Amino acid sequence: MASGVTGELTRIKTLERLTKDAEAGEHKLERHLGPWSLIGLGIGAVIGAGLFSLTGIAAAQHAGPAVVISFAIAAIGCAFAGMCYSELAGMIPVAGSAYTYAYATMGEFVAWIIGWDLVLEYAVGAATVSVSWSQYVTRFLSQIGINLPAALVHSPFETYKLADGATAHGLVNLPAIVIIVAASWLLMIGIRESAKVNGAIVAVKLAVVAIVIGVGFFYIKKQNYVPFIPENTGTFGEYGWSGIMRAAGVVFFAYIGFDAVSTAAQEAKNPQRNMMIGILGSLVICTVIYILFAGVLTGLVHYDAMKGDAAPVNTAIAQTPFPWLKSLVTLGIIAGFSTVILVLLLGQSRVFYTMSQDRLLPGFFSKVHPTWKTPYRSNLFFMVFTGALGGFLPISQLGHMTSIGTLLAFILVCLGVVILRRTQPDAKRDYRTPLVPLVPILGILTCGAMMASLDGETWLRLVVWLAIGMAIYFGFSRRHSRVGREDGSHTAL
Ligand code: ALA
Repeated sequence: MASGVTGELTRIKTLERLTKDAEAGEHKLERHLGPWSLIGLGIGAVIGAGLFSLTGIAAAQHAGPAVVISFAIAAIGCAFAGMCYSELAGMIPVAGSAYTYAYATMGEFVAWIIGWDLVLEYAVGAATVSVSWSQYVTRFLSQIGINLPAALVHSPFETYKLADGATAHGLVNLPAIVIIVAASWLLMIGIRESAKVNGAIVAVKLAVVAIVIGVGFFYIKKQNYVPFIPENTGTFGEYGWSGIMRAAGVVFFAYIGFDAVSTAAQEAKNPQRNMMIGILGSLVICTVIYILFAGVLTGLVHYDAMKGDAAPVNTAIAQTPFPWLKSLVTLGIIAGFSTVILVLLLGQSRVFYTMSQDRLLPGFFSKVHPTWKTPYRSNLFFMVFTGALGGFLPISQLGHMTSIGTLLAFILVCLGVVILRRTQPDAKRDYRTPLVPLVPILGILTCGAMMASLDGETWLRLVVWLAIGMAIYFGFSRRHSRVGREDGSHTAL
């Protein structure tokens, strides 16, 4: 057993304690979600900007038609982590996801770090997608003759061109704020309502994706697949196998979100079984869709022709005799982005709520609404925080922060499985990750390799973000920790 500061940093929250807290009176969330709702949440969070924007970029700049292999490689990396998430989410069915698993295994300090890090995945991710959502909505509205004032669709750090050719700064990205407020409001009024709306929008987005794949398939030109793996240019990451790997790192963003299903563990019926179905089910469905979609896209347009193309999906549709499909696809994209924002904000509020329940954050945020049964104060907080990010900052440059934050969480979850198999070998596990420790180790290595492929600036931003988190931990959380105040005797060391 460790003592002093080490003892504080490594104090753990035992499995018994976790279960007891999750069932506690006024802080209790209700279990409403069945397997289909959970798969819907997974697909809702996953299919979005990554598929529609990054597939073309990854093919044009890194992998050519072999981008389908990149999608498969990224999926394998996610599957390792997904299996680990499934085991832990079923075993510890509370709302905090990776944060909670770390608290039960590696101690309070690592848990705090990972909870803080998840803000990058969920809140920053939602803000980033809200800006893309705003761009598509603005474009769609202008196509139907509604032109929003440019100053109201650009943040103050962005510029736009005036009629006389001069440039001006924006005031606020209003559509980005609108979608964040709408999603937060829905999340506040109920998990059942949120899951229903999410399910309906996911159906629309899946239908649009299926139409693109189904129609596009008949207009594929075989010559576009030649060469399938373009020869490497001599620079690492530009085609060849290194390009395929680099593209896998790029399209990883497209898979982010399946893990958000685990943050709904406290609202899932029969979580021991349904968590696995929701997490791995959504991952398998999205992988199949991604590979088909990427195959059709690169079959319709030669990868070389996609260079510098901001809307490769539209270019691909232009190769079919149905150009009107473009508007349908834009609607599908807008729908797709909406559910990504919704589910990422869901994940964020649940992690924040759990951290607040543990008093690593002020207890104010863990109050559950008496009627809505949602952690509405956490939702409100992130409505303001994420809305401000999307509305006033040039957040779109921060997409890689979301990837690095997510990969770090995946690594710790893989590690958590290995630790809990040792410390709690007899705990009930309805779903067991196969071949432990091999699968978690492969998960750590794949995610570590993808992290390593990200640029230095992203790493620096991660370090700064974590340093701010540490300052808050040592300034507030360590002293207020509920586990610390009530029982400091269980430690990870
Ligand atoms: N996977 C999500 C997207 O591609 C974050 O938008």
